[in-house]
Amino acid sequence: MIVLVGMPGSGKSSAGRQVARRFGLPFIDSDHLIESGIGMPIKDYFAQQGEEAFRDLETATLRRIAEDPRQCVLSTGGGSVLRPENRALLREKGTVLYLRASPDEIYRRLRHDTKRPLLQVADPRAKLQELFQARDPLYRETAHFVIDTGRSSVQGLVHHIAMQL
Ligand code: S3P
Repeated sequence: MIVLVGMPGSGKSSAGRQVARRFGLPFIDSDHLIESGIGMPIKDYFAQQGEEAFRDLETATLRRIAEDPRQCVLSTGGGSVLRPENRALLREKGTVLYLRASPDEIYRRLRHDTKRPLLQVADPRAKLQELFQARDPLYRETAHFVIDTGRSSVQGLVHHIAMQL
């Protein structure tokens, strides 16, 4: 299993999809899997049930994916590394790549985003800084490789990822 971790907007899904194509592997996006299970957007689930309930679902979903012996490329939600058990699971079962982008770059990409519940706040730029500071060490702890994305195109990123594998 090839696992992509990183902040929202770091390119996990778009790069993951292309890496999967390049290696002829199925692509799994854990957020999409969760959404099809609950039958609603994650944002709505957050609003109705709260973040902890979402984290429980996320943890169960990651466990299910990781226990499947078939190879795949997995794109994870940005908060999947918050729980120590998820960090340990992903690192043990997969080759984990951290797509590392600066909070400013992420802000530039996501400033018009309306899907991510954690960014629906008065100052999303400050929120991204705060999330990055808290999570950067967790992504590093989980990952076998850190890939600084800078302003790379998806193609450039995919090339970079393929070189690490
Ligand atoms: C979250 C990131 C989202 C999604 C949920 C929570 C987070 O995934 O799992 O909204 O805590 O950063 P992306 O990283 O794909 O945006």
